[in-house]
Amino acid sequence: MKFNPIKCCHLWLLWALIVVVKAQTSQHCPPPASIKPCSCSVKKFGLDIICEYTDHGHISTAMTALKGQQNTIIFYLKLRHNNLPKLPGFIFLGLIVQHLTIHNSTLAAVEESSLSSIGKGLTQLDLSQNSLVAVPSAALANLHSLMILNLNRNKIKDLRSRSFAGLDTLETLNLYENKITTIDQDAFTGLDDRKLKRLNLGGNLLTDVPTVALASLDVLKKLEMQENKISSITEGNFAGLKGLDSLVLSHNQIREVPARVFSHLTQMNSLELDGNLITHVDPDAFIGLEENLQYLRLGDNNLHSVPSDALRRLHRLRHLDLRSNNITILPEDAFTGYGDSITFLNLQRNLIKHLPPMIFENLNSLQILNLQNNKLTHIPEEITETVIDTLTMIDITDNPLICTCDLQWFSGWLKNLQDKDDDIMSKKRTVCTMIPDNREYAVQNIPLEKMGCVGKNAGRVSSSGFVTFHPSLDVIQIFLTVAMIMLL
Ligand SMILES: *[C@@H]1O[C@H](CO)[C@@H](O)[C@H](O)[C@H]1NC(C)=O
Ligand SMILES: *[C@@H]1O[C@H](CO)[C@@H](O)[C@H](O)[C@H]1NC(C)=O
Repeated sequence: MKFNPIKCCHLWLLWALIVVVKAQTSQHCPPPASIKPCSCSVKKFGLDIICEYTDHGHISTAMTALKGQQNTIIFYLKLRHNNLPKLPGFIFLGLIVQHLTIHNSTLAAVEESSLSSIGKGLTQLDLSQNSLVAVPSAALANLHSLMILNLNRNKIKDLRSRSFAGLDTLETLNLYENKITTIDQDAFTGLDDRKLKRLNLGGNLLTDVPTVALASLDVLKKLEMQENKISSITEGNFAGLKGLDSLVLSHNQIREVPARVFSHLTQMNSLELDGNLITHVDPDAFIGLEENLQYLRLGDNNLHSVPSDALRRLHRLRHLDLRSNNITILPEDAFTGYGDSITFLNLQRNLIKHLPPMIFENLNSLQILNLQNNKLTHIPEEITETVIDTLTMIDITDNPLICTCDLQWFSGWLKNLQDKDDDIMSKKRTVCTMIPDNREYAVQNIPLEKMGCVGKNAGRVSSSGFVTFHPSLDVIQIFLTVAMIMLL
């Protein structure tokens, strides 16, 4: 047989592959008794070790047993619900750990040399629900492969200068539900190596946007600051966050959205401002967001009208949520100039009494319309004419609707929807009140014929008033029909 260099190298590659695979699959657990009460299982990429409801002594013993084995790769090391107030130095020395969780374990101190020995391989560190009052910066400083750091639900009071220095590969930093009141201007210096993509500062005690600290995070994609005590936002607050895609400011105490406050966030796709105390949105509030903003939440605020002047520049807007405000009047042009791209519009839980005839004229893409829980007595067909073909969902429940011929579009539309095998809507019980007898009827079952609504256009005739009733045999017949429908 002739020497074949290609075949030779294929074989060599195959051999190399076998070695690698073997190294990965040759992982095995130590004898169960040696790591009790911890448990061990073999996963595809290494061992999965779990220690729960135990203490430092038992965890140390288990670690020693693991160190006794050669080439052990711990893919997951999960220490949960333990009594482990201090993570001592060198506890993991000699081990390779990729994902470390120390959760709900009373942890208050992390010694400087406790984590550095596993710094090379550690990609995820979860220290959530413990008793840390400060970021254990010294212990974190050598974690040069860390991508995700979770410090949620601790008692951290402030973020000091260079709190995360050394974490130069970090992409996700979670600090949700701590007690953070102050953030040093240099708090994030040292990790701003153009890597951090997600930062969660929600559920803290911030009263202001930490503008200077955030300014260096120019590749940050998602910033969450919900559930803080921020009472105002001003122009320049987000000046450094050029790459931001999503900003969450929900459930703060913001009273107004001033001009140009987001003007640097030209990449932003999603803005959540729901659950604040917003009464005023400046007409120039959304300057800068023209090209990319698609998703806007302004629900649970104190708006008295749709902030149309501010919204008009958002010609890419698809999702507009204005639920639970104090909107009483919708002017004819509330959605003109920007409504073309809107597919989702939520106006539920407002105080809207009247819909002008052309109100939805520009909403050519509308699919979901929520008008639930307003003060509407009439929704004439002409209002829905321009959107009826694109709508897949409309909610008009919990309105004081009066049964008139006007409403017959609804059952027609619903029928069409049912033909399309989409019965989400028919499950909602939309009712109107019949004036003469003050009784409620399901809107899709109003006895249109008996009410004298003949043909599709009858609604137009009576759009200004109620249907005139002849209290005669007709009425009795209507009641019988309705009773039968209800029985069915
Ligand atoms: C936290 O751990 C303790 C045991 O140390 C346990 O009793 C408690 O239920 C745990 N809490 C949660 C929320 O898991
Ligand atoms: C809604 O507005 C009315 C006045 O238009 C005001 O009396 C009422 O307090 C407002 N409600 C809320 C929840 O702000």
